[in-house]
Amino acid sequence: MKLYEFTRSYQLFEEAQKYLPNGIYGPRTPSFLTFGSYPAFIKRGEGCRIWDVDGNEFIDYMCSFGTNLLGLKHPRVDAAAKKQWENADCFTLPSDLWLPLAKKMAETIDGLDWCVFGKNGSDVTSYAITLARVYTGKMDILLAKGSYHGSHFWCQPHGQGVPEEWKTHVHYFEYNDAEDFKRVWTEHRGSVAGVVLTPHRHDAMRDQELPSPAFVEAVNTLAGQDGFMIIMDDIRCGFRLDLAGSAKHYGWKADIQCFGKAMANGYAISVAGARRELLEAAKTIFFTGTHFFSGVPFAAALACIDEIQTGGVIDHIREMGTMLMKGLNDAAVAAGVRVSVTGPPAMPYMTFADDPLFETNRFFCGEAARRGIFFHPHHNWFVCAAMQKEDIAKTLDVAALCFRLTREKIGG
Ligand SMILES: Cc1ncc(COP(=O)(O)O)c(C=O)c1O
Repeated sequence: MKLYEFTRSYQLFEEAQKYLPNGIYGPRTPSFLTFGSYPAFIKRGEGCRIWDVDGNEFIDYMCSFGTNLLGLKHPRVDAAAKKQWENADCFTLPSDLWLPLAKKMAETIDGLDWCVFGKNGSDVTSYAITLARVYTGKMDILLAKGSYHGSHFWCQPHGQGVPEEWKTHVHYFEYNDAEDFKRVWTEHRGSVAGVVLTPHRHDAMRDQELPSPAFVEAVNTLAGQDGFMIIMDDIRCGFRLDLAGSAKHYGWKADIQCFGKAMANGYAISVAGARRELLEAAKTIFFTGTHFFSGVPFAAALACIDEIQTGGVIDHIREMGTMLMKGLNDAAVAAGVRVSVTGPPAMPYMTFADDPLFETNRFFCGEAARRGIFFHPHHNWFVCAAMQKEDIAKTLDVAALCFRLTREKIGG
């Protein structure tokens, strides 16, 4: 097999340094991958495949960091979007799809009676904490250490240039540790507005963890007694585990829920929604953005949710993900390397034993990328509905070879 080369990608990346900070900023930079073994720029995509600017083809297990649920260029979603394009996209007032999508969300998501629309996940996680504060009249927000909820000032992980004051009311506990959660809640007792939780633990650079029933029970019970809001950040998992929401899937008694990424198969839209009792408080909140009202993503979201409902999407991605996880485990055992494959099958992730700096993972994923399989060494992966058994089988063939190369590199 001829190994891929990325000449054009890295020429463009070099040139981009002059015009953009670091050429590519945020987690899309090739520096967050195995530098030199991945492309920097993508030209086009279809289904579960992408082609880079050098013409290399990949089966993409990042699925556009989670927006690609049905497959790129999905005919049903793109036809609905095109139909709206013909009426134009961004108007002075909302389009006539504003209400249908709000109703669709309320019908689809368990425990969601009304909603607001934004563009990115960060828009709506920020809205959600504001709603919790207005509704409870309290200020403190509890977050799990290492969980990602967006790039806005109150939650961004790095914080260069962000005044400390922005995080004054944010306090951290250990995910899946009921005692630690109670400890932090006790320290701020009487002023806790809400806890923001991902449905399961899917932080970058660590194995995924499903929420333990004891943790879910402890948070649900304490919220019921104290009156703080459970805010479910379903931006990454939403529409992948259960059409009615991941809160329902895992048993969280969510008051406020946030969705984005996959809900319109890549068109820019996000949603926060809540129980009926919070609607009155929401009327006082200022929330807007020029592009929040553009119609095309609404059309795409309506078609995407219909497709998930009728197309057997969630069952299919679970089946494909299960085949991938089992195959990776088997291939790793056969090659004599120890891995941990974690997460729900719809969004698996793999780490190597004794690899605290992720060097082995970067080697494995880099070798896979040079052979057309786009895994990520630091971030959970995604499975999309366009993936078929043949794609998984091809992936596993490449993985088997890369496990053998990894074994040779790290030794026995
Ligand atoms: C769990 C979670 N919450 C919030 C966000 C922020 O979403 P966005 O990048 O669309 O602002 C992300 C993005 O990766 C996410 O994974």
